[in-house]
Amino acid sequence: MKNNCCKKSNFEGSPLQFTILSSLFLFLFASTLFSQVAYAARKGDEREIAKKCILCHEKVSPGIVNDWEKSNHAHGDITCIDCHRADPTDSDAWNHEGSYISTIVSPRDCSKCHPKEVKEFVDSKHSRAATFLRAEAGDRAKDNVLAYEIEGAEAAVVGCEKCHGNVVKVKNGKFEPGTWPNGGIGRVNPDGSRGSCTACHTRHVFSVAEARKPETCGTCHMGPDHPHIEIYLESKHGVIYSSEKEKWNFDIPGNSWDVKHFRAPTCATCHMSGIGKLEPTHDVGKRLSWVLRSPLSIKTNGWQVKREEMKEVCLSCHSDGWVEGYYFQLDNAIALYNEEYYKPVKKALDELYALGILTKKSFDEEIEYTWFEYWHHEGRRARMGAAMMGPDFAQWHGFYELAKHRLKLLNKIKKMKNKKLSHEE
Ligand code: HEC
Ligand code: HEC
Ligand code: HEC
Ligand code: HEC
Ligand code: HEC
Ligand code: HEC
Ligand code: HEC
Ligand code: HEC
Repeated sequence: MKNNCCKKSNFEGSPLQFTILSSLFLFLFASTLFSQVAYAARKGDEREIAKKCILCHEKVSPGIVNDWEKSNHAHGDITCIDCHRADPTDSDAWNHEGSYISTIVSPRDCSKCHPKEVKEFVDSKHSRAATFLRAEAGDRAKDNVLAYEIEGAEAAVVGCEKCHGNVVKVKNGKFEPGTWPNGGIGRVNPDGSRGSCTACHTRHVFSVAEARKPETCGTCHMGPDHPHIEIYLESKHGVIYSSEKEKWNFDIPGNSWDVKHFRAPTCATCHMSGIGKLEPTHDVGKRLSWVLRSPLSIKTNGWQVKREEMKEVCLSCHSDGWVEGYYFQLDNAIALYNEEYYKPVKKALDELYALGILTKKSFDEEIEYTWFEYWHHEGRRARMGAAMMGPDFAQWHGFYELAKHRLKLLNKIKKMKNKKLSHEE
């Protein structure tokens, strides 16, 4: 902890003293100092308000005050009201003990003090992660058949929406309970902004150290369809992290966290941190040359530049030949998946749709589940295992399963086609 400037005891100065002092200043120095003095007075009022928040919440919710006291915000004199203040006209504003506040502190609120991080986050896929869920959240709503039609909306609320985010709704100043709480990464907030910074910096510590650890990303980046944390823990990088993380220093401020503080990269190191010549970024797509989560892998826009950035990360610890060889192997594995596993089966399946053997509706025929798991689970595991050095995911959870199900799918498709054609004869 850096200093104790903002412990509760620091909020015990008299408001009256402050007001008299600032009026006096105002009187004496008139115009040039006006804004500074107004600021001091406002800050004085705010300290009074903050003091009230802290003293009461210490009893109502001591965990919150305890966390805040440990945070760098407390050390930097940033209090409850700096974040929770609301305009009375905000849809989620409510009058709480004499101050208008809102419970949600959205990226728009954080941007008052962290414009760079918020802009990068807004530019990233993370901020748009809820757009496919419901029509009201954006234009990709057609992907939600599985969530809302097949599994049921209640499942989506506790599943998809917890990772992706939802649309938080307010009625008569209160959150609709079906939409709150939610901390999904692309949450659509009542003020119209997108995202939830607490997805990686939980309140009220808002720690940079926590965000740098792979477990943080693992809440969402796990499971059969995108096992990034499992792949990472299998990789040599993850093994080194597990064996010696206690000795690493995760608390270093943004631009200076580098190889002298850790011996192997975490998710954040490769995808976000400033390392070597690189600037830190909240746009997690900035260093990706491939889109691997889609059925057919495709190159990202401007992929060469993005790949060069990722190489910069590796080159802090590896040599050129190692990194070139890694990308050569990765590109080959992806081409193998695209050409030998994805395209032939997709083509055969499309014929079934064209012949009317399968209906246009998704997930109403058994084979559609097998096909979904083929690209969405097995195909992603093969590609992501290759991308992040997890050989068991590339192999046994990946290409082996693909090989097995390619055969099954093609046989099944042939049978369905023959049956239909023999009926027509
Ligand atoms: C006199 C006591 C008191 C004061 C002063 C006070 N609060 Fe509260 N606050 C409460 C109580 C009680 C609740 C409701 C807790 C519950 O429902 O469990 C609450 C709830 C909240 C909530 C959560 C509301 C929700 O939607 O879940 C927030 C955010 C909050 N207070 C922030 C503040 C801030 C910021 C201040 C200072 C401007 C403040 N409080 C001042 C007592 C107080
Ligand atoms: C750096 C900004 C920031 C500061 C400072 C801050 N909060 Fe919060 N607070 C948040 C965020 C973010 C949330 C989570 C809401 C969300 O998901 O947007 C939150 C949530 C809350 C909640 C609801 C939590 C729950 O679990 O029900 C309460 C109550 C609350 N804050 C009180 C306080 C009090 C009291 C203080 C001062 C001691 C304080 N906050 C300081 C950002 C802040
Ligand atoms: C009123 C200005 C203000 C607002 C609003 C604010 N912050 Fe901060 N934040 C700061 C300052 C100042 C620091 C640096 C504190 C220090 O290190 O002395 C900081 C530091 C941080 C850090 C680095 C902490 C660390 O461990 O080094 C994170 C993460 C952070 N803020 C996240 C947020 C998030 C998320 C929000 C919105 C929910 C938010 N902040 C809202 C002023 C603000
Ligand atoms: C455990 C958290 C989690 C849950 C639950 C979850 N997802 Fe995801 N989803 C992710 C992550 C992480 C990604 C990004 C994977 C990647 O980039 O490799 C993703 C990616 C996606 C994508 C691809 C988006 C794109 O830009 O191509 C879609 C569509 C999707 N999920 C839909 C859903 C639906 C529908 C549900 C519920 C039936 C759901 N997800 C449940 C975490 C989750
Ligand atoms: C996907 C996880 C993730 C999300 C979401 C996220 N952050 Fe961060 N944040 C990080 C990581 C990781 C770092 C540390 C990067 C590094 O190593 O330099 C960080 C660092 C920061 C810092 C410290 C910068 C410095 O120079 O010390 C601030 C401030 C911050 N984040 C604010 C925010 C705000 C505001 C939001 C919401 C718009 C947000 N973050 C959302 C992961 C995240
Ligand atoms: C609360 C859930 C959640 C957390 C926590 C989270 N992510 Fe994500 N992430 C997602 C979802 C959902 C997507 C897919 C967004 C989409 O395309 O719709 C995603 C996408 C991504 C992508 C692909 C971006 C692109 O442009 O293709 C990367 C890389 C990524 N996340 C890295 C991280 C890292 C690193 C962390 C931790 C520091 C992290 N994420 C934390 C949910 C999360
Ligand atoms: C050694 C660096 C490194 C580490 C550590 C790392 N990644 Fe990656 N990640 C990569 C590379 C390289 C790619 C593929 C690059 C490309 O597209 O060119 C990738 C791809 C991704 C993708 C994109 C998948 C898609 O749909 O295209 C996501 C999401 C992701 N990583 C998340 C994570 C998470 C979460 C962690 C930690 C559990 C993590 N990564 C750890 C280097 C790393
Ligand atoms: C902070 C340093 C660091 C960074 C950054 C880093 N690595 Fe590593 N990497 C290591 C260390 C240490 C090992 C273990 C080497 C050994 O086996 O002795 C390792 C091992 C590996 C391995 C070998 C895995 C195996 O199965 O033996 C590969 C491949 C690899 N890294 C690729 C990359 C790529 C690609 C990047 C960038 C996307 C990267 N690394 C970034 C430190 C790093």
